[in-house]
Amino acid sequence: MSRIAYVNGRYVAHADARIHVEDRGYQFADGVYEVAAICRGRIIDEDGHLERLKRSLGELRMVMPMADAPFQMVCRETLRRNRVRDGILYIQVSRGVARRDHAFPKNVKSALVMTARAVAWPLGADDDEGVQIATVEDIRWLRRDIKSVSLLPNILAKQEARDKGAYEAWFVDGDGFVTEGSSTNAWIVDDLGRIVTRQLDRNILGGITRAAVLKLARQNSIEIIERPFTVAEALAAPEAFLTSTTSFVTGIIGIDGAAIGDGAPGPVTRRLRALYLDYCRGPGSNMAARPHAAVA
Ligand code: PDD
Repeated sequence: MSRIAYVNGRYVAHADARIHVEDRGYQFADGVYEVAAICRGRIIDEDGHLERLKRSLGELRMVMPMADAPFQMVCRETLRRNRVRDGILYIQVSRGVARRDHAFPKNVKSALVMTARAVAWPLGADDDEGVQIATVEDIRWLRRDIKSVSLLPNILAKQEARDKGAYEAWFVDGDGFVTEGSSTNAWIVDDLGRIVTRQLDRNILGGITRAAVLKLARQNSIEIIERPFTVAEALAAPEAFLTSTTSFVTGIIGIDGAAIGDGAPGPVTRRLRALYLDYCRGPGSNMAARPHAAVA
């Protein structure tokens, strides 16, 4: 089946989808994006993704390319035309097309692109064998709360991890604290079974999955501590895991070659994964709105 992309008001064959060479997203990475998971035909945490998109745009002094209702119709139509019931919706908004000049162009319409593709999600609670992490220096800019398409440090970190045989990279700041993964949020479980993840501020992206997992934890009386943790603390922790739209809740079984826990995803991780997968399968999978509500 041929894939269809939405590009600035038109649905076109994916193979023919084009943007202009002077699109500022292409030239300056002057744009933002969202990745949403689709489970059983539903956009998981649609409101949270929409809200984060608006927030990212606002931080760059951009606005939504259209009102919410038509925007959400384009999301659904892109999924429908690609026959995606389980998969990924990718949304990108750039400042638009203008003669190259660093300063914002005047009277330019932002550019909107959406693509969708089917993914057969591993939705069994036992599908997770756990993954390895490689730590890397966090060399990123100071506004990681903005979901910018400027992802060079992230892709370099991910590749470094893959070259070392790891699935994900954990960024470590100048004080030895883990900020987040190259495309995931980072968590550990402490000796008392409490889950620990860095608080929301400009140092990390406010993950939509992070927000949903925090709500599920609260609902299920799992204690939460939002604070930074060091690599040494993670290495000594009984469990560690990561969260993201496309990885859900995934156990971490090794960091820089050293085993975490007993080398398999631990009980708290497995429980949270099961809760999150139930949430994705269920009708109420839209509660992670305002992921960055805590950020001033
Ligand atoms: N990545 N941190 C970073 C740097 C990310 O890029 C992502 C998401 C996350 C997790 O956020 P969420 O739970 O909203 O997916 C954290 C997406 C999936 C990507 O770039 O493909």
